[in-house]
Amino acid sequence: SSIPNVNVMMDKVKVSASNLFEQIEALGELSDTTPPSITRILYSENDVRARDYVKSLMVSAGLVVREDSLGNIYGRLTGSEDDELSPVVSGSHADAIPHSGKYDGVLGVLGAIEALRAIRDSGLRLKRPVEALMFTSEEPTRFGLSCIGSRAMCGRLDAGYLNSLRDANGTGFLEACRGGGYCKDGATTAEVLEASYVPKGGVHAFVELHIEQGPMLEDEGLDIGVVTAIAAPASVTFDFVGNGGHAGALLMPYRRDAGLVAAELALSVEQWALGTKAVDTVATTGVLQVYPGAVNSVPREAHVEVDVRDIDEERRDGVLSSIIRSAEVIARKRSVEMEHKIVNQDPPAPCDASVIDAVQESANELGLTSRRMVSRAYHDALFMAQIAPTGMIFIPCKGGVSHRPDEFSSQKDMENGVRTLALAMIKLAGV
Ligand code: GLV
Ligand code: MN
Ligand code: MN
Ligand code: MN
Repeated sequence: SSIPNVNVMMDKVKVSASNLFEQIEALGELSDTTPPSITRILYSENDVRARDYVKSLMVSAGLVVREDSLGNIYGRLTGSEDDELSPVVSGSHADAIPHSGKYDGVLGVLGAIEALRAIRDSGLRLKRPVEALMFTSEEPTRFGLSCIGSRAMCGRLDAGYLNSLRDANGTGFLEACRGGGYCKDGATTAEVLEASYVPKGGVHAFVELHIEQGPMLEDEGLDIGVVTAIAAPASVTFDFVGNGGHAGALLMPYRRDAGLVAAELALSVEQWALGTKAVDTVATTGVLQVYPGAVNSVPREAHVEVDVRDIDEERRDGVLSSIIRSAEVIARKRSVEMEHKIVNQDPPAPCDASVIDAVQESANELGLTSRRMVSRAYHDALFMAQIAPTGMIFIPCKGGVSHRPDEFSSQKDMENGVRTLALAMIKLAGV
C-alpha cells in the first residue's frame, strides 16, 4: 500500500476545510431545536432535508448517487481499472440525538464526500471504485435501536424484530420509512432489509472518520486517533407497574411505587458498573420516566432505559444480567410488576490490520501525530466490520465533548482527518 511520491500526489488532493466547515454549519440549520443545539430524528422533515442536502453535495462532488430502500445513501466515484472490483467505502450518520451537536456523524459523512471530491478534482484515478456513504439512523432515538442502516447492510437485523419496534407515537418502522420517502413500493420489512443487504466481500474496506467524543487526543496534543477496536454496546428497557394514587391519601405502607423501583435500579446500575473495577465498564441510566408525572401523584408506572458497554464482551454480559437480576429483586421487594427487553447486545469489533495500517501510514506520511485507541462509542463501523475489513480515524474535539450543543472540532483538525481519510482510501483502492 505504499505509494511513490505521496507528497506530490497529496499536493494535488486539495481538501477544503472551510467548505467542510460551511457545510457542517448548513446541515446544522436542519434541526428540530435551535442550533447549536441539534436534534435530527430518523425520517423526520429535517432528516429528509438533510438527506437532500447530502445528495446535492454528492452530485456537486461528481459522485453517482444511489439509495437503498432504507435510505442508506451512497455516492460513488468509479474506478479506473475494473468497476467489477468491490469499492472502498467511507461514511457515517447525519441523524442527531436530542440537543446534541453539529459534528457527531456529520463529519464522517461530509468528510467522506469532501475526500472524494478532492481526489476526483486532483485528476487521480483510483483502481477500485470509492464510495461516500450516509447510513440511516445510527442513533437509537426514534425506535430505540441503533445503527439500523448498518445492521441491515450486514444482515444483522431481523424483520420481525424491526416490525415490533414502535416510536413514541406508536408508529411502526415501515410506516415511518414510507413517511421519509423510502419503502414506497409496498415492500414488506423483510424485502426492504433484503434489498439493503451487502454480502461479505461486497465492500473491499470500510473506514469511518469521526470526532473522538473523548478527551484523549486533545489532552495529549495529537492530531489523529488510529482506532484498533470498538467497544461492545448493549441496552435494555424496563417497564414497572405499581399501584399509584393520591400523594396525600395513599399512606406509605400501602404504596407500590414504580418510581422508587426505577430510582433504586438507577443506583444499582452504577454499582454494577463500578463493581467490575475496570475503567472500561460503563453503564448509564439515560431514560427514567415516571407516569403520570404529577407532583401530587404516586408514580404508578416507570420506564427505564439502561446502556451498558465494555471492551470485554463477557464482562459486559455479566453486568447486563446482574442489572436485570437487581431489577427483579427491587421490583419484587416493592410488589411492583416488571417487564424488561434487551434491545441490543452486540459484540465488540476489532479493526482490521489492513485498514489500521493504511490509516497509520497515511497519518505518518502526512506528518501528523497519532496514537492507537479504542472507540468507546459505537459507530456504524461496528457492523461494517462484520462484512468488510474496517477501521476508523478519530480527530480531537474540544474538551472531549460530544452529544452536547457545544461539540466542536477545529478546521485544522477536520482538514487533518479528511486528508488522512483521503490518503487511506487511495492506498486501499490502489492507484
Ligand atoms: C452513539 O452515539 C453511541 O451511543 O455510541
Ligand atoms: Mn452519537
Ligand atoms: Mn456518531
Ligand atoms: Mn455514535
